[in-house]
Amino acid sequence: MTRIALTGALGRMGTLIIQEAAKREGLELVAGLDVVGAGKELPGGILVRDASELEAALRESRTDVLIDFTIAQAAVENASTAARLGVDLVVGTTGLSPEQHAAMRKAIEGNCAAVISPNFSLGVNVFWKLVAEAAVALKGYDIEVIEAHHSQKKDAPSGTALATVETIARALGENEVQKVVYGRQGLMLRGKEIGVHAVRGGDIVGDHTVLLAGSGERLEIKHQAHSRSAFASGAVRAAAWVAGKKPGIYSMADVLAQR
Ligand SMILES: NC(=O)c1ccc[n+]([C@@H]2O[C@H](COP(=O)([O-])OP(=O)(O)OC[C@H]3O[C@@H](n4cnc5c(N)ncnc54)[C@H](O)[C@@H]3O)[C@@H](O)[C@H]2O)c1
Repeated sequence: MTRIALTGALGRMGTLIIQEAAKREGLELVAGLDVVGAGKELPGGILVRDASELEAALRESRTDVLIDFTIAQAAVENASTAARLGVDLVVGTTGLSPEQHAAMRKAIEGNCAAVISPNFSLGVNVFWKLVAEAAVALKGYDIEVIEAHHSQKKDAPSGTALATVETIARALGENEVQKVVYGRQGLMLRGKEIGVHAVRGGDIVGDHTVLLAGSGERLEIKHQAHSRSAFASGAVRAAAWVAGKKPGIYSMADVLAQR
């Protein structure tokens, strides 16, 4: 039995992850933490503990894997606490600065196994493969990444859009992508760049489109999440996979490679 704890237990994702974990054999939720709602009962009878008690909660519950869906700064601190205790990790939180990413990686390396992904859905992980293939096949086409999310989303552009840009840059090689332009306004000619555009509104769960436009044609590759359960089930699958793996940082592609 893999014992999992969850930071952000009362959030939109946390709530769904608890439901998904309950459906999966071999996983047991042993602790849930949040900065709000301490003492509230979670499905399964566990009481929410205050986020400040993370270290004690991980020790007392003998957690194998911590799943974090919180906010950037909290994710870095929570991952460092887990890594120090040798607790494996699944991190879904987005919006981390390059410095925060580096600090998290440094804390993890050599101490625990972690799956870090800005998007745990199966579809987006296939989307990234298709985008890489299309970018190479249509070398020289103009590329724009357009994402849309609900009005409560804190970070922009989305972590998935940034990972999409990285995927394209890696596939094309650094010389092919000179810069990334976030939105456009005023007089400017398009250069050898990737344009990134963030749309925010209503309850959109998460859309990502890559547009490749050339002379006389364009190709659009699009992923739309209909429900957050696509992310929650992937995160739970990653938790089952990562428990007891060799210390290191893994991607969702590593999880999906082992069917
Ligand atoms: N990787 C993915 O597949 C994926 C999918 C959806 C959302 N996300 C990301 O996950 C994060 C959470 O998204 P959400 O929609 O659930 O947000 P949310 O605001 O609904 O939930 C976040 C929860 O974290 C709690 N929290 C804040 N600081 C904390 C701390 N120090 N310790 C414990 N809990 C803390 C908040 O009180 C809240 O309950 C965001 O960064 C979002 O972009 C990732």
